[in-house]
Amino acid sequence: MTGAAAGHQTSTPGWEVVREYKGNGLRSRTFLVRSPDGERAIWKEFGAEYERYFQRELTALTSLREVDVHGVLPPLLEIGERYFVVPYFEHARRKRTFWYRMGYRLYPLWALRRIFASLEAFYEAGFELLDMGPKNALFDKQGRVMLIDFEFAFEGAARADVPFERSQTVRGPAPTWEDDVPHGEAAARDGGFYRRKWTLVTGLPVRSILRDSPFVQWLKRSAYWPAYYVGFLLQSIPAASRRRARRKAARAASASTEQDS
Ligand SMILES: Nc1ncnc2c1ncn2[C@@H]1O[C@H](COP(=O)(O)OP(=O)(O)O)[C@@H](O)[C@H]1O
Ligand SMILES: [Mg+2]
Repeated sequence: MTGAAAGHQTSTPGWEVVREYKGNGLRSRTFLVRSPDGERAIWKEFGAEYERYFQRELTALTSLREVDVHGVLPPLLEIGERYFVVPYFEHARRKRTFWYRMGYRLYPLWALRRIFASLEAFYEAGFELLDMGPKNALFDKQGRVMLIDFEFAFEGAARADVPFERSQTVRGPAPTWEDDVPHGEAAARDGGFYRRKWTLVTGLPVRSILRDSPFVQWLKRSAYWPAYYVGFLLQSIPAASRRRARRKAARAASASTEQDS
C-alpha cells in the first residue's frame, strides 16, 4: 500500500495493510498490518521531520527492556528507516460501548498496579514519559499489559530529587520543560495530567496504586471513585451539549456554503 497523506510515503514491504489508525496524523502514522502467514502486527512510521520522535520511541523500546520486570514493552519485530513493527495487542477496552460513554472506564486494579509499577521503574531508570495516558496503556482478558507510544519518552529527564508521584510522567510537563510536548490537553503545564487523564480510569490516587495492598486499594476505590464519577457526570453534561451545539453549527455552516456555491 502507498499513500502520502501526512507528507511522507508509506509502503510496508512484507506486510499487508489491514487498516490505518487515527493518530496524531502529523508526526507518525500507525497501521494494522498482516504478515503472509496471517500474523497481525502494528507498523508505525514517522515523517522525515520527526526523526527525533522516532529515535526517542526506539530508545525507550530498547533501553527500558532491562528494567521491564512486568513485561509491558512490546517486542520489536522489525526496525527500519523511520519505522518499526511490533506485535498487535488485542486490548480489552472497548470505546464504543454504552458504559464507556457513560464514563465507566475503570481499569482492573491488577492492570493498574502493573502499569504504574512499570512507569515508576522507567522513571527510576531515568526516563520521563510525557504522554503516557490510558490510551497508551493496554490490557487484555488474559491478564497481560502493554505500554505503547513512546514518542515523548525522554531519557535522562527524570530527577533523583523528585519522587515518581511528582514526576512529569504523572503530573505532565513542568512549566520549565523546554523540549517537545504532546498536543492538546496533555501539554498543559498545571500539573493536572494524572487528574485529567487517569483518575476516571484508576479511581485512586497514584500513591495508593503504588503502595497500598490490593484490598485497601479496592476499599479506597469503592469510596473515592463514586464521588469522582458524580463530578465527571456533572461536568460532562454541559460539555456534551456544547459538542452537540458545535456539530449543529458546523452542519448549518456547511449547508449554507453549499447553497452559496
Ligand atoms: N501494539 C499495538 N497493539 C494494538 N494496538 C496498537 C498497538 N500500537 C498502537 N496501537 C493502536 O494505534 C493507535 C496509535 O498508536 P500510537 O503509538 O499510540 O500513536 P499516536 O502517537 O498516534 O498516538 C493506538 O492508540 C492504538 O489504538
Ligand atoms: Mg497514542
